[in-house]
Amino acid sequence: MQILIYKIEISYFCILMFKRFRIISIVAFFVFVLTTAFRHSVNSIEISKETLGEKLFFDSALSLDYSISCASCHIPQFAFADTVAFSKGVGGKFGQRNTPSVMNVKYRDRFFYDGRAKDIIDQVHFPIQDPNEMNLSMDSLVQRLSVNSNYVKWFNAIYKEGPTKQNIADAIAAYEMTLETSNTPFDAFMNDVPNSLNESEQRGRGVFLSDKAKCFDCHFGPDFTGDEFKNIGLYDGLKWNDKGLFGITKDSADFGKFKVPGLRNVGVTGPYMHNGAFKTLKVVIDYYDNPFSTVAKPINIDESLKKPLGLTPQEKEDLLNFLLSLTDKQFKNRTY
Ligand code: HEC
Ligand code: HEC
Repeated sequence: MQILIYKIEISYFCILMFKRFRIISIVAFFVFVLTTAFRHSVNSIEISKETLGEKLFFDSALSLDYSISCASCHIPQFAFADTVAFSKGVGGKFGQRNTPSVMNVKYRDRFFYDGRAKDIIDQVHFPIQDPNEMNLSMDSLVQRLSVNSNYVKWFNAIYKEGPTKQNIADAIAAYEMTLETSNTPFDAFMNDVPNSLNESEQRGRGVFLSDKAKCFDCHFGPDFTGDEFKNIGLYDGLKWNDKGLFGITKDSADFGKFKVPGLRNVGVTGPYMHNGAFKTLKVVIDYYDNPFSTVAKPINIDESLKKPLGLTPQEKEDLLNFLLSLTDKQFKNRTY
């Protein structure tokens, strides 16, 4: 009874208030409805880390003068590598290394030719801050994205906070990890699909695995790299003067060692090697056959490459065809 009386009194009070402050009540009601709806729409934005990372990867706001994105150098049609020896950064500057593919990086445990990044998240801030690449401090990038209402909305939807150095790197890394490729004639062959590799490609696989060519000693595992650092002879301290891993470890045993790159899609990622010195895969194979005809006095060259391999022209051709069979079908329209 008591409660009923209270309820009647409250209702009576509301009606009275409404009569007196009609306009204010109506405005308050709409404000309430709109803010609730807005809050709901923010919470229900459907965006994944990967999609957010993709937006960042293709956004030139990651570079000082808004001129380049990650994709300017890591070009999607070329398996996210570049087609020139050295890519142009902000202000037309060039770095010292060739742009590698960023596909099939999910299982890599070190990044860059000298392994200076310890994992895929750590790797992200290097190109953004590199004066020869995007030349933007992470702090400036955080500020830039924090005044962009779309990014603020997306970061909040996923990370429950605005953009930070950490979550920017996390999102880009999540996108990079989606760039796996396995739709290749080689994978079909491994899955016993009939006629997936022709005879030359199959013979080339034999050469690749053989003790004669030794490719498999360093290029092994599902992505054709064991993530080790090796010296294939491209360092002589003179014309070939990139010290590779030594630059990071300062250990003389590491002179001229570079991260063994994976070989998936290698048919579309030329030019090759840390300095893009070799234009085609044919040149790469000729190099391995006899490194000394290119670099007369290599320092610290790997034991396995100290003697010329002595591959026949047929073996070279087959090896080339095998390397091309590692190309994902999405790139099949490319001529090599
Ligand atoms: C100006 C060209 C350029 C831009 C822009 C650029 N990169 Fe790179 N990227 C390179 C070069 C050159 C290397 C090799 C550097 C080295 O090994 O020292 C590289 C290496 C990498 C690697 C290492 C791959 C491996 O297998 O070790 C990853 C991953 C990568 N970049 C991702 C990115 C991301 C993400 C962005 C954008 C935030 C970006 N890059 C922007 C040129 C560029
Ligand atoms: C001793 C280890 C070792 C052996 C043996 C070896 N490689 Fe490599 N390979 C490497 C390293 C390290 C690099 C990167 C060198 C650099 O960037 O300067 C590389 C680079 C390459 C590249 C260029 C990839 C790119 O994206 O630039 C190709 C192609 C390649 N190797 C194919 C082969 C083939 C084919 C064989 C067999 C004939 C072979 N490799 C034998 C370690 C090895």
